[in-house]
Amino acid sequence: MAAGAAAIQGGRWRRVWEAIDERLGLSGLAYPVPTHANGIGYILGGITFFGVLVLAGTGIWLAQFYHPTPGTARESVVYIMNVAPLGDIVRGVHFWVSNIVMATVLLHLGRVFVTGSYKRPREGNWLIGLGLLGVTLGLIFTGTVLKWDQEGYEALGHNIEAGNLLGSFGFWFSPEFETSLPILGRLYVAHIAILPAIGVLLLAVHFLLVKRHGISSRPAQADLAVDGGPAPARGGSTFTAHLARMAGFGLIMLAAATVLSLVAPAGLGDRPIPGTETTKPPWMFLPFYPFEDWFGLPALLWIPAILFGALALVPFVDRNPYRSPRRRRLFIAIGAAVAIAAVILVAYAFATVPQAHVQEAV
Ligand code: HEM
Repeated sequence: MAAGAAAIQGGRWRRVWEAIDERLGLSGLAYPVPTHANGIGYILGGITFFGVLVLAGTGIWLAQFYHPTPGTARESVVYIMNVAPLGDIVRGVHFWVSNIVMATVLLHLGRVFVTGSYKRPREGNWLIGLGLLGVTLGLIFTGTVLKWDQEGYEALGHNIEAGNLLGSFGFWFSPEFETSLPILGRLYVAHIAILPAIGVLLLAVHFLLVKRHGISSRPAQADLAVDGGPAPARGGSTFTAHLARMAGFGLIMLAAATVLSLVAPAGLGDRPIPGTETTKPPWMFLPFYPFEDWFGLPALLWIPAILFGALALVPFVDRNPYRSPRRRRLFIAIGAAVAIAAVILVAYAFATVPQAHVQEAV
């Protein structure tokens, strides 16, 4: 009797599911993906995407309380931290997830580089990925300014100087571009609308291309096929299982960010003092910081330009058809040298005393 009731119940749920699926086509998501796509190396992009969703949600919450004007911005952050409902936790999660996302983007790039997954036919998606890296850095940079503390104010000073160095191309970065709205207001619009809109467009193309090409096979299998062996096997798992795994890792990231926001809350520096430079940039910008000490502010334009330019050329210069790291020793050695140099530069930047670089007070 009990078994019969359970069967009726089960049949009812199946019919509900079939009715929803008929209308939304959800079962179409269960298309085959290779098993290795569920390993940590191949799911870093998915974890990053989960982080992007958390940033959008927490960002919308913070926007309910934040005032983007120089006279009120920092005080509204103090309000978020002390008065707004869940403000301190939501701000902490936004801050920590942005840092984790930066780390997972870099690890994702590293995985794609090491496994040679930028090779034909994925060169275009590598370039779209570089655009996403630029958007991520832009979001963290503008977010830093929004706090309107000493660090944010100095970041804005760099923004304006970079605009001056770009000459007529840098008009948007100048406070004189439009005086009806302080530049802080325009950077806020960039943070909540312009950069997210560009990011959503790039993500849509990025995901369409991943779907079109399929996730790259393991390098050893791909190399076997280059040597005339069997084509790499497809399938073994499903996209829905992949999504579930991505959500699992994403929830672990969210839990870690929540704990971090409690034990190490997002900081807020003192009110800015115009004309002084006492802070260093967030860690992801630190590899560029020593160049600013050695060569002055113009280095902040040409070092990232060289880095992004070199990264953009990678798929077009590395024409070797093999993908295993041991069959691409030169490129792996160059990549490792760049990564080690970045770590050394960060350590150096940590150890040095902040110097004044910006000429004009904002
Ligand atoms: C917001 C930043 C990014 C997000 C959310 C994202 C997301 C994803 C996702 C979900 C995948 C599927 C496989 C995986 O997770 O590894 C993927 C694949 C890929 N991504 Fe990204 N990505 C981002 C940035 C980048 C960057 C910075 C690069 C490199 C410059 C890049 C290049 C690629 C390439 C070439 C693939 C195909 C890899 C393969 O088939 O093995 N992505 N991305």
